[in-house]
Amino acid sequence: MRKNIVAGNWKMNLDHAAGLQLFAEILNLINNELKGNQEVVVCPPFVHISSLAQLLKANSTVSIGAQNCHHSDAGAYTGEISASMLKSSGASYVIIGHSERRAFFAEDDLVLAQKLDVVLKNELSPIFCIGETLEQRNAGTHFDVIESQLKEAAFHLSDDQFKKLVLAYEPVWAIGTGLTATPEQAQEVHAFIRSKVAEQYSAELANELTILYGGSCNPKNAAELFGQEDIDGGLIGGASLKAQDFVDIIKVFNS
Ligand code: PGA
Repeated sequence: MRKNIVAGNWKMNLDHAAGLQLFAEILNLINNELKGNQEVVVCPPFVHISSLAQLLKANSTVSIGAQNCHHSDAGAYTGEISASMLKSSGASYVIIGHSERRAFFAEDDLVLAQKLDVVLKNELSPIFCIGETLEQRNAGTHFDVIESQLKEAAFHLSDDQFKKLVLAYEPVWAIGTGLTATPEQAQEVHAFIRSKVAEQYSAELANELTILYGGSCNPKNAAELFGQEDIDGGLIGGASLKAQDFVDIIKVFNS
């Protein structure tokens, strides 16, 4: 059975005390009421990871993720953070290829391929983000863009490696804009992604793959989005900074 995941991406928000408080509120509201195949991931800024990890109990269905990591194992890269540091700080997921990293930090598919390799080597699960810009959607090239992002950054992985990925379809025009993809638009792309994975790997692997939707997802639209056949949860930005909104989105799977 496919895993349902709701992941919160805090981006560059919240100082340490505010981050700890939000995380404690989220744990409290979830109150161990998650379904068996459901997982929650919270991705705070790097400096909060180890403190948040200490609040988790053994066998928690809540995990900690990072928002990025460097593509090398270690070395003279002042200011950077490696996958092994994240692992040893208590993270189990890493967001790779978020559109803000692609746009503001010039991350291309080549470097993202290396990041996926280093994350997997360190036994972390990548949440690999793909999605088109508004111009690309208006030009009707969104399927080509998504296929190329998959091919260039991820399709070099072996079956066993690819199985560990979570994919996130995040149309860039929907991120932080309040413009959500309609459930039909999102479903169409999710089904396309699954078909490409089936072609490259196998129908079985594609069927087990968790594909999240991200982009202005909130407690009002989550149920309809997550109700689509190929949408297995969400990567939540703005709404993950409010404990009640985030947990309301998570509990869509319980209703
Ligand atoms: P948003 O962000 O929910 O604020 O649109 C989503 C994301 O960037 O992952």
